[in-house]
Amino acid sequence: MTSIFAPVRVGRYSLPNRLVMAPMTRSRAAFDGTPGELAADYYSQRAGLGLVVTEGTQPSDDGQGYLTTPGIYTPAHVAGWRKITSVVHEKGGHIFIQLMHVGRMSHPDNTPHHRQGVAPSAIAPGTGMFTAAGMQDIPTPRALTTEEVRQTVTDFRHAARSAIEAGADGIEIHGANAYLVQQFFAPSANTRTDEYGGSIENRARFAIEVLTAIAAEIGTDRTAVRLSPGTAMWGIDEGPEGPDLYRYLVAELDKLGLAYVHIMHQGNEALLADIRKLWRQPLILNRPGRPRDQIGADVASGLADLEAYGQMVLANPDFVVRLKTNAAMNEADPKTFYGGAAKGYIDYPVLSAKGDTSS
Ligand SMILES: Cc1cc2nc3c(=O)[nH]c(=O)nc-3n(C[C@H](O)[C@H](O)[C@H](O)COP(=O)(O)O)c2cc1C
Repeated sequence: MTSIFAPVRVGRYSLPNRLVMAPMTRSRAAFDGTPGELAADYYSQRAGLGLVVTEGTQPSDDGQGYLTTPGIYTPAHVAGWRKITSVVHEKGGHIFIQLMHVGRMSHPDNTPHHRQGVAPSAIAPGTGMFTAAGMQDIPTPRALTTEEVRQTVTDFRHAARSAIEAGADGIEIHGANAYLVQQFFAPSANTRTDEYGGSIENRARFAIEVLTAIAAEIGTDRTAVRLSPGTAMWGIDEGPEGPDLYRYLVAELDKLGLAYVHIMHQGNEALLADIRKLWRQPLILNRPGRPRDQIGADVASGLADLEAYGQMVLANPDFVVRLKTNAAMNEADPKTFYGGAAKGYIDYPVLSAKGDTSS
């Protein structure tokens, strides 16, 4: 049985344990997308996990949807991220930047150019979004032209190069949670008639092109992807072909030899088992709301190579130490998840040498 604390090889890196910080948007960047000053502390506090995956980070102006999320496509973004990657490395950690293009999950009030959101098709997600003026309905997006889809692939490639310039160990493409990549998968969001819509092959094409382009730019062993097969929120319905789309997609991406696939599991165990068989590189598994006593079970059973945790890591900078010593965990405070400053960000208490908590 493999221990969650056993070292593991991911891409070109040797990680000291199999615990991963799941990507979490914290909305504390500057309005120009430069990461906030406290982000270096936040990530370095959590560098004891084998791998840190950052918050979703937009690859372009069009890719932003929420207020004050960071970007990685301008020199200021690169300089901001460099401060973060260098302190994580000083602590012996590894950090992949998650590249997140929101597609239609966007409000013009939140973006730098205040333009209409872009998506595979002009179909609104049917939900609201927080803006500086409070909650507002998300407007109907504009459908990308075929040429613009190709330009978006190029934007991703540029962002991946920028992430490496900023010192990141790699990038994870956000292909989950109803954002642009998954919008292409779902017939409810993608009614295109060009080569990016219709058949399973066509709906998977955008993801495959993005990952192929990035792998060519920065290396397959620094390129990874997150998927959430079966996500049904914000108007995403992958339909009866959904599981087959993922079988096809994972088999195609496997040919690239990427650093890892990161599955945010939505409950289809048979599909998860198939993905495990189809994928020869490391698999990171995130089971939302996984209880503490189950941590390590998927690595022990061989279903996953690494396990990712979100809220528990957000609230416990010394997550690995607490697990090893069987210490109590702090509870995450949802009121401070998005926006604000130090509170609920860099002030969660850590265990002292004596085992009690101190901040
Ligand atoms: C505050 C917050 C922000 C999140 N932002 C992202 C994100 O930017 N990208 C992403 O892929 N998932 C995001 N997630 C989902 C987490 O990565 C994770 O899948 C989810 O929290 C379930 O795991 P957990 O129960 O261990 O927290 C976010 C979750 C939380 C709590």
